[in-house]
Amino acid sequence: MDTLVMKEEQGQVVYEKSGAILREGGLVAFPTETVYGLGGNALDKSASQKIYTAKGRPSDNPLIVHICNEEMMLPLVAYIPEKAKLLMDSFWPGPLTLIFKKTEFVPYETTGGLDTVAIRFPSHICARKIIECAGVPIAAPSANVSGRPSPTMADHVVEDMNGRIDMIVDGGSVGIGVESTIVDVSGELPMILRPGSITKEMIEQVIGSVKMDEAITKKVSDTVAPKAPGMKYRHYAPKAPLTIVSGNEELVASKILDIIKEKKEENQMVGIICTNQTKSFYTEKKDDLNNMVIKVIGDKQDSKQIAHNLYHVLRAFDSENVSIIVSEHISTGILKDAIENRLMKAAGHKIIYV
Ligand code: TXA
Ligand code: MG
Repeated sequence: MDTLVMKEEQGQVVYEKSGAILREGGLVAFPTETVYGLGGNALDKSASQKIYTAKGRPSDNPLIVHICNEEMMLPLVAYIPEKAKLLMDSFWPGPLTLIFKKTEFVPYETTGGLDTVAIRFPSHICARKIIECAGVPIAAPSANVSGRPSPTMADHVVEDMNGRIDMIVDGGSVGIGVESTIVDVSGELPMILRPGSITKEMIEQVIGSVKMDEAITKKVSDTVAPKAPGMKYRHYAPKAPLTIVSGNEELVASKILDIIKEKKEENQMVGIICTNQTKSFYTEKKDDLNNMVIKVIGDKQDSKQIAHNLYHVLRAFDSENVSIIVSEHISTGILKDAIENRLMKAAGHKIIYV
């Protein structure tokens, strides 16, 4: 059966309908300022299990618990460290998730068996209204099938979740486009487990030095477990394999053109991810090399725009007949860490240096 889709602009009726479904143990996908989330009652273990089933997600990968005011988290966390309080005061509501020691109220089904719980207070009004109407904290991973790019518009959620969940709230295209920054404040030293639009520099301005989990930049080996279990899976991936080419702009373009030539001999189409500034390297060869599909991810200097378009571009290649995708290495601007991390994971860390 098709999933009920309602437009956010209908307002209160949508919030109330969503809230009622969530309270009764059902699943509702809704927009947040980062990506669309797939919500269920965080305190109901069977709702959490339904989330894992709908996403096809391994059950050792914990869910983020979303709240609509700070009081809502008090029964869920053992204590709030001083540095966490400072971060909450500076960045909540907003795209920052904090990891705390959990209380017995939070079922292990929600935390993937961990004794810690991830808490996020989103700034998106629709998300907050829905949580408020539900009256319970809401576990919400990104609303994609496990391993696929996170949804940044309701159509993406319909693609992945139609028939698998009770309701989808269509709030249009999201603002940020990459998931929240995750900071673990449950240990001695705060540690960034996932980079996002709240950057390391912004965090350090508030609480002083923080570490970055090694797994963010390096390919995680079987022996080093990343602190955020979700970071160990291949992720954010389009259907065709993705390779990143890194180095000087012109050398990168010429390497990518070489790949396209090779694939032309094999009668294969190649997807290219480039910027407004580098697009012409490819378009000027279009007459000879008619086996390329070019997608511009944004302006080279505008990392917010690139983050906003990233998952949309990755998903858009799924409806093109390409056998591989090649992306220029994108690493500029304040969202550099977040973009690099998502691209590298989408590529399974396949990168060619020129
Ligand atoms: O922006 C976001 O955070 C979005 C929106 C919907 O709010 N949600 C999101 O959830 O990205 P998800 O499930 O796709 O990613 C959650 C990440 C995973 O990598 C998971 O391993 C990590 O958070 N995580 C959750 N609880 C954790 C915990 N207790 N300790 C360490 N990592 C945790
Ligand atoms: Mg996700």
